[in-house]
Amino acid sequence: MIRVDDLSITYGDLRALDDVSLDIEDGEFVTIVGPSGCGKTTLLRTIGGLETPTTGSVRVDGDSPDAAQSDARLGFVFQDHTLLPWKTALENVTFLRRMAGKDPDPEGARDLLATTGLDGFGDARPAELSGGMKQRVAIARAIHLGADVLLMDEPFGELDEITRDEMSVEILRLWRENRKTVVFVTHSVPEAVFLGDRCLVVSGSSAAGGAGRIVAEFDIDLPRPRDESVFGSEAFGQQVARVRSALHDDA
Ligand SMILES: Nc1ncnc2c1ncn2[C@@H]1O[C@H](COP(=O)(O)OP(=O)(O)OP(=O)(O)O)[C@@H](O)[C@H]1O
Ligand SMILES: [Mg+2]
Repeated sequence: MIRVDDLSITYGDLRALDDVSLDIEDGEFVTIVGPSGCGKTTLLRTIGGLETPTTGSVRVDGDSPDAAQSDARLGFVFQDHTLLPWKTALENVTFLRRMAGKDPDPEGARDLLATTGLDGFGDARPAELSGGMKQRVAIARAIHLGADVLLMDEPFGELDEITRDEMSVEILRLWRENRKTVVFVTHSVPEAVFLGDRCLVVSGSSAAGGAGRIVAEFDIDLPRPRDESVFGSEAFGQQVARVRSALHDDA
């Protein structure tokens, strides 16, 4: 379980996050939407132990994020994919797992590359891949690490709409099979609704003098498993409208 308690983060005079409290259950898929600059990445990085709370605390199964990270219990997909340029796609996927001292699983790594649409690109270096392909390698790498918690920061940001929809369905399938806890940041309201058990709306751009806060929270009661047919359903449209209006109300 992830527990965020009264978390605030300031950078000098800038307050990026203000008094954020949040519990995430094991195996839950939580999505976070909000405008640019409202502190989504900061929140994710703090849960991952990459930022230190100015006040308040973060606990992952009762431990500090640092401890969880050093046990490879946290997997990241960043906004910029951070692949190692000198390694092939396949080596990039397997590298973190090897560093973490987990059992090698080359078959699993190859399957993940295929699942993410990169069959045949295992030997390619990042420079030979498009932005979206690199992002998919980073997703495969995070899943392959086998961490209990996946922290994903706009992982589909560089993908075209169709691949994005396909990857959304694929991520849900992988999540169903592996039962990870996922915290997923996105700019896309439909994506947040399609993926999440729960959707948090963060608002308050620090550029405009505000600080990021959770302004609304929605339980997404769409049946699972969800596939592309959900996008056209009335219930989906209604949920999207609700989340959108929370975003706009606050803006
Ligand atoms: N290391 C840092 N030092 C100083 N300010 C920072 C730092 N990291 C983030 N900020 C500021 O904190 C605020 C929140 O940034 P953050 O990256 O969390 O926003 P975001 O919601 O992820 O935005 P986007 O949707 O554009 O990715 C911004 O005003 C940003 O300038
Ligand atoms: Mg961000």
